[in-house]
Amino acid sequence: MLNDQAYQLRQLSESLAGRGRPFTRVVTVASGKGGVGKSNFTLNFALSLMELGQKVVVIDLDIGMANLDILMGTAPRHHLFDMVRLRKNIWEVLEKGPRGLEYLAGGSGFQQLCKLEEEERDYFFRELEKLQGYADIVLIDTGAGMTLESQRCHLSADDIILLTTPEPTSMADAYSVVKILHNQKETISFHLLINRVGHYREGMEAAGKFKMAVQSFLNRDIKIFGAIPDDSAVTRSVLKQVPFYTANPRSPASLMMKKLAVRFSDGTAVNHEKGGMKGFISSLTKMLRS
Ligand SMILES: Nc1ncnc2c1ncn2[C@@H]1O[C@H](COP(=O)(O)OP(=O)(O)O)[C@@H](O)[C@H]1O
Ligand SMILES: [Mg+2]
Repeated sequence: MLNDQAYQLRQLSESLAGRGRPFTRVVTVASGKGGVGKSNFTLNFALSLMELGQKVVVIDLDIGMANLDILMGTAPRHHLFDMVRLRKNIWEVLEKGPRGLEYLAGGSGFQQLCKLEEEERDYFFRELEKLQGYADIVLIDTGAGMTLESQRCHLSADDIILLTTPEPTSMADAYSVVKILHNQKETISFHLLINRVGHYREGMEAAGKFKMAVQSFLNRDIKIFGAIPDDSAVTRSVLKQVPFYTANPRSPASLMMKKLAVRFSDGTAVNHEKGGMKGFISSLTKMLRS
């Protein structure tokens, strides 16, 4: 109920300010290998986007390993699937984290989607689609690797932030992600982000090599989004269960989050005709039916 009211208030203040309803850009965070920093990035990137005035909703779809709430030190009252299980609407399951960050907790999640009755699935998607026009960005943390569910998610999104560390094994796995997704949809938009770099230059060089490999083997372009320093403030904040961006706003990783948020907010042209939350849902629905 409260969230319903908050939603209405937001619509009202936006129309008074002449802003209109936002186009809701759906962004997934992907990686080949696990443990490369996806969940930490998702959470702290969301916080830094919010600081720029972006309305962000985070969805935790890391199947079985959903742990954004652990990183925030919060205990969600509801999980995403409570919408179906308990017939809740989306505003009732939308949780609040630090600084008012809104998120949908994953629980043992997304896999179950394939097992739902058609009617339940339609209900689930109808509720999710209400995020269209509510948020500027829906940021989705997914599981590592390319399960069928996460592939479907990435293929339906407007943008994919692909995270890897500079380690050759992690880079090779990230390359497979590009290859698998590109083979199914050539128009997919990748933003490559190298995490845990010793020096910025080293990270950007690794990114450059990756871009060239993709260019020559797959004959396609990927955007280099940036490089995040290996920073002990990240590990410390994981132990404290506080996002590093709030615990240590001046740490090297936090300062980079700020830059990335600015880059992401004004860097990419958004196609207002296609995609968005509506496109995401209709693409997912089609794939689940096929
Ligand atoms: N930029 C970083 N600097 C230092 N350690 C990091 C950084 N990013 C991630 N880590 C470490 O990696 C661990 C795994 O991160 P996590 O976000 O849970 O990965 P994933 O979601 O990809 O499995 C964290 O607990 C943290 O210790
Ligand atoms: Mg994770």
